[in-house]
Amino acid sequence: MAWQVAEGRDMPLRIDVITLFPEAFRGVLESSILGRALREGRVEVVLANLRDFALDARGTVDDKPFGGGPGMVLMCEPAFRAVEHVQGLDPRRALVVLLTPQGERLTQARVRDLAGRQRLMLVCGHYEGFDERIRTLADLELSIGDYVLTGGEPAAMAVIDAVVRLLPGVLGAEDAASEESFNLAGLLEYPQYTRPREFRGMAVPEVLLSGNHAQIARWRAEQALERTRRRRADLAGEAPDEK
Ligand code: ADE
Repeated sequence: MAWQVAEGRDMPLRIDVITLFPEAFRGVLESSILGRALREGRVEVVLANLRDFALDARGTVDDKPFGGGPGMVLMCEPAFRAVEHVQGLDPRRALVVLLTPQGERLTQARVRDLAGRQRLMLVCGHYEGFDERIRTLADLELSIGDYVLTGGEPAAMAVIDAVVRLLPGVLGAEDAASEESFNLAGLLEYPQYTRPREFRGMAVPEVLLSGNHAQIARWRAEQALERTRRRRADLAGEAPDEK
C-alpha cells in the first residue's frame, strides 16, 4: 500500500537536539527507561553542538544586543546553519521545536501529538535570549511551565522523556502509560499502595485488600475524580477549591 496506517511507522522516531551542552544529555539518555528505549532502538536521539556551527574558529555563537542592555544574545547564523544542516541529515522532515518560556505550555495532548511524528528537532535556547529571527526556524515553540530556566536543555529533556514513554514497547506489556495521570479520562492518578499493610500507623485502605475487583475499580475512579477536583480543578472542568 502506498500509505501508512495511523499507528504504523517504518522507522523509530528520530529526535535531533541542537544544544550548546550536548554532554548535559548523556546521563539522562543513558539511564533507566530512556536508556533502555534507546538501546532497544525504539527511538533515536542525535545530539548536535550549536558551537560547531559558529562562524569563527573560536566558536562564537552570541553577541551583544542591538539597542544595548545586559547579557548576550544567541546569533542567527549559527542557529540557522545548525537547523538547516541537521534537517538534511535524514530524509524525513523534522518538526522544529524551539524551547522557550514564551512557547505554548506543554500538555499531555501535545506530547501525544509529538510521539506520533516521524521526526522532531528540539532547539535549546540559551543565555539571556536569542535573536528574534531564530523564531522563524520553528514550527512550534514550547514551554514546560511558567518559570525561567537558564536554558532550554532541561525542557528538551522533559519533552524527550514524556514523548519516549508513549512510544510502542517502551513501557511494560501492561502499558502503565494508559492508566496514569492525565490519561485516566484526563484525571490525576488514584492513590497507590504496596506492602506493608500498615506503616507507622498509616493503614492501606481496606477496599484494596478485599480482592473485589469491581469495588476496587470504583474506589479508584472515585479517588481519581476527588483528587483531581481538589488539586487540579482546572482539569476537572470546575473552579478551583477556595482554600
Ligand atoms: N527555557 C527557559 N525556560 C524555559 C521553559 N520554562 N520552558 C522551555 N524552555 C525554557
